[in-house]
Amino acid sequence: MCGIVGYIGHRDAYPIILNGLKRLEYRGYDSAGVALYDGTGIQMAKTKGKVADLEAKVNAEITPNGSLGIGHTRWATHGVPNDINSHPHYSNSGDLVIIHNGIIENYGSIKKELINRGYTFKSDTDTEVLVNLIEEIKKKEKVKLGKAVQIALNNVVGAYAIAVFDRNKPDEIVVAKLGSPLAIGIGENEFFVASDATPFIEFTNNAIYLEDEEMAIIRLKKGVKVRKIKDDSLVDPYIQELKLNIEQIEKGGYDHFMLKEIYEQPEVIKDTYRGRLLAKQGIIKMAGLEENMSKFVNANRIIIIACGTSWHAGLVAEYIFEEWARIPVEVEYASEFRYRNPIITDKDVVIAISQSGETADTLAAIKLAKQKGALVYGVCNVVGSTISRETHSGSYTHAGPEIGVASTKAFTTQITVLTMIALRLADVKGTMSKSDYMMHLRELEMIPDLVAAALKSEDKIKEIAKIFKDASNFLYLGRGYNFPVALEGALKLKEISYIHAEGYPAAEMKHGPIALIDEQMPVVVIAVNSNHYEKVVSNIEEIKARKGKIIAVVTEGDTVVKELADYVMEVPATPESLSPLVTTIPLQLLSYHIAVMLDKNVDQPRNLAKSVTVE
Ligand code: M6R
Repeated sequence: MCGIVGYIGHRDAYPIILNGLKRLEYRGYDSAGVALYDGTGIQMAKTKGKVADLEAKVNAEITPNGSLGIGHTRWATHGVPNDINSHPHYSNSGDLVIIHNGIIENYGSIKKELINRGYTFKSDTDTEVLVNLIEEIKKKEKVKLGKAVQIALNNVVGAYAIAVFDRNKPDEIVVAKLGSPLAIGIGENEFFVASDATPFIEFTNNAIYLEDEEMAIIRLKKGVKVRKIKDDSLVDPYIQELKLNIEQIEKGGYDHFMLKEIYEQPEVIKDTYRGRLLAKQGIIKMAGLEENMSKFVNANRIIIIACGTSWHAGLVAEYIFEEWARIPVEVEYASEFRYRNPIITDKDVVIAISQSGETADTLAAIKLAKQKGALVYGVCNVVGSTISRETHSGSYTHAGPEIGVASTKAFTTQITVLTMIALRLADVKGTMSKSDYMMHLRELEMIPDLVAAALKSEDKIKEIAKIFKDASNFLYLGRGYNFPVALEGALKLKEISYIHAEGYPAAEMKHGPIALIDEQMPVVVIAVNSNHYEKVVSNIEEIKARKGKIIAVVTEGDTVVKELADYVMEVPATPESLSPLVTTIPLQLLSYHIAVMLDKNVDQPRNLAKSVTVE
């Protein structure tokens, strides 16, 4: 859960690395560092803090030079965030320098062994142990850097994406991957290394994504050689042509990526269903689903595994799959699922949802489900991500890069994919009437317009944010399809404003949380026109009777809740089953504006990172 960047070529490495680190900062931002080969030796600067702090340190301490370098932005695992624990790390001789994303689990025993052999350590990190292990092997076995890396990695347990170079051989970088992503950008007489392709997209569209247990030796003159770490066999790498463009990874005039991504939703929801949903013809076609149709249709159960916001999208899917396709669904936190001994058979279909496609818990849960014989279907955003490759089949969400740590467009596009799957299954199984099916297709096609309409309430939501920004707690309530939206609304507020918030099914309130309600407690209630409308109105009355402050998400034209609530945020009418795609919009905007008013770092909230690639 860190970002790594490397460059070897004919340009100045530092600006490329610095810019790359800025783009990868979503992966971790508690410290950063850079090491450059300047023609005679290695220059290094590293610091606790963000990439901007690194930039200031570099300006103050070194004159960055050279066409070979590596850089790192960290989310601490071993050792607190401080200057010393920041990457890159030197080996004891000062010859080797390394950056690492991942965890070396058996670093303790290796460290002891190295200390016995006279090695000393400055940091508390597992990474400094790894670079010294490589150095020890290189000296003892009298082998080249690449070979030493390979032997070392065969002796470690854990996960890694690493880049390492030797100041005595400044024409090569050695990289390797297991569990953490690593892309190699191939330019004209230049090569880039990064956790994803964003750091090099303006230089080249050609990239190799290393597979797990692969390493590459990148030589300036000889190009890239990919090998299997286990048996040293040569691999013929697939060079992928990237579709990413630079606008997609910049803020485009918005103050924050999160706001840009909230506003992208009408467009990206269209991208999600483009070519897959033909409403007039009554067609939904998703290649991965069609290939596995009989497995889905005959499934005993669908088990959905995911974490965080993706788990909330899974909960929405539980309602629609059961309602429309009449297939029993269980939604599990991947982190719990992986450590139980779940009962899964080859009659189950597992759907793994992940924006990044790199979440370690989800990945481990996928491996377990595969071992037990289930078909595993991925719903991922990042093309070529580990989860998209580990799953048997799947559908991409096509949301484009989501850089704000708080997921927004990932959530709505995941629900869009899952909705299409559920509708297609309902059609094939005949569990939904043709007219209902056609109506849902038409309504789904209209969702982007309704999301755009919901976004128009931003000014009003800003006013509400101003009134409640200093509250210490929030409750979020919803029923049915909108219960997961309540959970998601609470998560959004927590993670970017650091205000405690809880989501609850509205009717559960009376079983406990009602005790929390007093005149200080804002309660956000999703009260759109639905099957549960009257019941939610009763819940609102209960809150009012205890002087709680009601902020209600209502359907345009609502009068009843408008009378009762202290504040309302209106959304256009949709069928209840599709309403999460719209009701989530005001909640995203509410948390965004509260966080901005509290002067929080919206795109990079404390302690978090975009993809959680550790347990
Ligand atoms: O990349 P994934 O969808 O697998 O990530 C799962 C969670 O880590 C993620 O949704 C997290 O909860 C977000 N920060 C929520 O906004």
